[in-house]
Parts: sequence; structure tokens; C-alpha cells
Amino acid sequence: MSFDPKWLALREPFDHNARRPSRGLLPKLEGARVLDLACGAGSNIRFLAPQLRGAQSWTLVDHDPRLLDTARVLLGLPDSEHDGSPGAWGSHAVSTLQADLRQGFPDVDCDLVVTTALLDLVDAGFVDDLVAWLDGRPILASLTVDGLIQWTPEDPRDAAIHAAFRDHQLLDRGFGPSLGVGAAAYTVQRLEQAGYTVQTQATPWEIPAHKSRMLEEMAKGIAHAARETGADVDGWLADKLAAISTGEVSLLVGHQDVFGALGE
Ligand SMILES: C[S@@+](CC[C@H](N)C(=O)[O-])C[C@H]1O[C@@H](n2cnc3c(N)ncnc32)[C@H](O)[C@@H]1O
Repeated sequence: MSFDPKWLALREPFDHNARRPSRGLLPKLEGARVLDLACGAGSNIRFLAPQLRGAQSWTLVDHDPRLLDTARVLLGLPDSEHDGSPGAWGSHAVSTLQADLRQGFPDVDCDLVVTTALLDLVDAGFVDDLVAWLDGRPILASLTVDGLIQWTPEDPRDAAIHAAFRDHQLLDRGFGPSLGVGAAAYTVQRLEQAGYTVQTQATPWEIPAHKSRMLEEMAKGIAHAARETGADVDGWLADKLAAISTGEVSLLVGHQDVFGALGE
């Protein structure tokens, strides 16, 4: 499945704001080798590297070369094949690696595995394989949707549209039937079964009324997905866009961050 770099850029400030309370989850590693699975355009390193200790070494992995190119541009890395060759971003070593995670996990030495906005797109077997492959290494999986969608003010039709949207989130994104809003709970369960100590933190997007572009994209995205499940969305969407244009509508979208490590 491909993701529009413009959408990833639009959501990045909301992602970073949402993750502020999850700073308490961060491991106290010094100079860590960090592997970012499904890195997109590099939002995770921009948020996380300044929060971790010391100069780090990052490998950014995605299957989409266009997003890896964008990540390199945004981080000021020189043009390169996405073959794991290191460059520098400030004091950090950074490489990009094109790999399809459906074919397996990359063979990269690392002290910490991170991923954002991925686990709701994968199936249970992917999480099982991920936990087995971690083999005790810590993981920080951020911004997994948890099903909370709350418009203020509410519309009586919201609940039905959101239910259809959540159904759509269970469809196959290339990894088999998606875990959708159950992904964080399933990941916690599998990590704990593997002996991890797990901490979670709610990291909702809080989209205020003046962020009309993000609100419009959310309304359109929810309507588009809900329509694909057969829901009647046209009246809801027209009214929601009209309400957003008044500057009096805000939105909360729930996520969970999960940090798992052995023996902590
Ligand atoms: C919702 S985006 C999140 C991107 C980034 N982590 C962020 O938070 O901005 C999901 C990412 O998963 C990547 N992805 C989807 N399927 C993949 C696959 N089979 N192998 C590797 N990456 C994949 C997409 O290219 C995209 O970058």
C-alpha cells in the first residue's frame, strides 16, 4: 500500500504533539543503533532522535523508494541508493534501506526497534513474527490507532460513520486482514507472552478548530473509507465540511504508544 508524502507531512506535527506524553516511555540507551520499520518520510527520527541520549545510528526502512527519497531530502542526506549506506544528520549516522516487510525483517544490528503508524495496518501473523524476530530487543511502537474518534460538536450520524470507518480499517493493506483498532492490545499481549515488560501511553491527535485543512482531510478520509463499506456518507460529509468551515469544530483521534523491553 502506498502513502502520499503530502499526507505524511500534514500529519507530522499532530503526530509529534500527540507523542509528547509518551516521552516517559523512552529507553535510557546511550548512542543506540535504532531500526525504524516502515519509516515513511522519516517523521519518527525527527521526533525521537533528539529525545534519545547521545549520537545514534539509525536505519530507516520502507518499501516505498519515493518516501525514502523524501526522507533523505528532509534530513539533508545526499542522494543515494537505499542500500543501507550511512550518511549524517547532525551528530547521528542515518541510512535508508528499501525492503518489503512482507518478505521478512531486515538483517540489521540494532539496540532498539521503532515503528510508527504501522501496526494497525498489519495482521496478527505479522505481529507474531515481529515479536519472535525481536528476540528480546526493546521496541517502541507509536501511534497505533485505538478507535477513538470524537468530533466536537458531535453529529448524531458520527457513530454510524465511525463504525463503518473502523470496519474499513480491518481490510487487507497488503499484510492480510488488518488488526485495525485491536492492534495495540494484540501487540501488548504478544510481547507480554514473550516475557516483555510493557508500558502503554494514550497519544491522541488533538486537532483544534483552526486546523481546518487537517479536519477536512480527516472528514474526507473517514467518509471515503466508510463509503467503501457501503455506508451512506454524502450528507454527513457535506454537513461536516460546512461545520468545519465555521471554525467551530475540533476532533480527537485516539492512538496508543507501546514500549516493550525485557526486565524493566
Ligand atoms: C501510515 S504510514 C507511516 C509512515 C511513518 N512511519 C510515519 O509515521 O510517518 C505507513 C508506512 O508503512 C509503509 N509500508 C507499507 N507496507 C510496507 C511494506 N510491505 N514494507 C515496508 N513498508 C511498508 C508505507 O510505505 C508507509 O511509509
